[in-house]
Order: sequence, then structure tokens, then C-alpha cells
Amino acid sequence: MKIGVFDSGFGGLTVLRALLEHIPGADYIYLGDTARLPYGAKSRATVARYATSSARFLVAEGAEYLVIACNTASALALDAIRDAVAVPVLGVVETGANAADGSSTTRDVLVIATAATVESHAYAAACEERQMRALEKACPLLVPLVEEGWIDHPVTAEVLRVYLSELMEQARAAALDPDTLVLGCTHYPLLRAQIERAVPERLRVIDSAEVTAEQVAKTLDGAVLHADAPETLFFATDSVAKFRALGSRFLGRPIDGVELVDLGG
Ligand code: DGL
Repeated sequence: MKIGVFDSGFGGLTVLRALLEHIPGADYIYLGDTARLPYGAKSRATVARYATSSARFLVAEGAEYLVIACNTASALALDAIRDAVAVPVLGVVETGANAADGSSTTRDVLVIATAATVESHAYAAACEERQMRALEKACPLLVPLVEEGWIDHPVTAEVLRVYLSELMEQARAAALDPDTLVLGCTHYPLLRAQIERAVPERLRVIDSAEVTAEQVAKTLDGAVLHADAPETLFFATDSVAKFRALGSRFLGRPIDGVELVDLGG
């Protein structure tokens, strides 16, 4: 089984990292559309165009199952991706909402994500389908801070404090009683410890990378997942040197070979 993992850039490597832990015997192809990121500030039509061309590339490279690790692409373009390829496609909004469903007893959840994901209300819709109310908040400054490597940095701590206290205030104003916070962006798992410190203790933090890997492992039959010598191939649409350097931080281990691919503008 060859699993294709797609993200707008490096953040989806947090999902690949969890997949490698849960299903170490599979082959993986990862594509980071680094030339066209960020997706989080773009329109649905543009995200769908970029994401479908990326998905087609992964299938042409032999992917038999696609994990759309990018929350923005999952929120805005999952149907378009499913229409564009003939292999099963799993998006992280669905897995994040499933995890919130399992976690929440009050049925009120908070979601932080990119502006495009929040504007799509994909998380709110997925939560409503599962009889939960969701309050979504865009945190656009977090992606560049993580890409800058400012994880344990006072500026990031202050930005988080402002975003999260606003979110708690909005929850109070809407008379919600949240017990779960979904990290609805690939970059946020890297800030998990800082986020947990900044929110009330009763909020359970859900990392969609982890729950996605668990769902893929459950969905795919273990028997087909054992390649003799499993390999992971990396593709990026912009600088491979930058992908190697920044990507290692998200993957948690060095990345050796990265191939440059041109998917157009
Ligand atoms: N991968 C995107 C997401 O999960 C974040 C980065 C971007 O905006 O492209 O929403």
C-alpha cells in the first residue's frame, strides 16, 4: 500500500510523522505545494485548483490512498479532490470532528484554524452533523510564527494569549460551555504545549495529526501495509533545500532526498 500525503507545505509532515508511527510498514509519498502556499488566505476556487493538481500528481506517482493533511484543502476542496482522483481520500476536518465527538461531553467545541478554513465553516458543519456546536477562530499569525521557528518565543506566547483569550471571551458571550479545542491547522501541533498552557485546564486539546493517523490505521487493513523495505519519498514545488531544513522540524527527523516538481503557477 502506497499512501499519498498532501499539504500546502511543511505542516502536513506532522501528519506523516504520526502515520509513520502508527503504520510503519507502508510506503509513503509526501507532496508539499510550497511554491503556492499559504493556502490559508486564498479563495475556495484557487485552493481547489491547487489541491486537485497536487492530488492528481500523487496518484500518478502511485498513491493508492490519499490523506489530505492540509486543513484548508480539506475544508475547501475535499469534494473537488474526490472528483479528481479515483482512489479513497481522507481529509483532516472529518478526522478532527470525529475526535471532538469522542472527546466532548458538553458538546461545545472550539476550533482554531486559518482564515480560509474558518470562513468555510467546514468544522462547524462537521460538528453540527455530530450534534455539537463549534466556535471557530482564525489565527493567521500562527503559521508564519511556526515557519520562523518561533515556537518557544515570547512573541508567539503573547500572540497565543491574545487569540485564545479572545476565543474564550467569544465562547462566554455565545453562552457556550466548551470542553474541547481542535487544532484545525497543520502547524498548530508544534505549538501544542504552549496552547495547553494558555487555555483553561478543562479544555482537551485535539491534534488532528494524531487522530488522522489512528483513523487511517483503522480504515486500512493491516495485512496490506507491509512493504518489504518501506520507503518515504518527498516532493516539493519550491526550494528543496528549504523543504529539507524546515521539514525536518515538522517531521522530527532529518529529511534526505527531496525532489522538485513543477505543478504550474
Ligand atoms: N496547511 C495549512 C492548513 O492546515 C496551513 C498553511 C497554509 O495556509 O497553507 O490549514
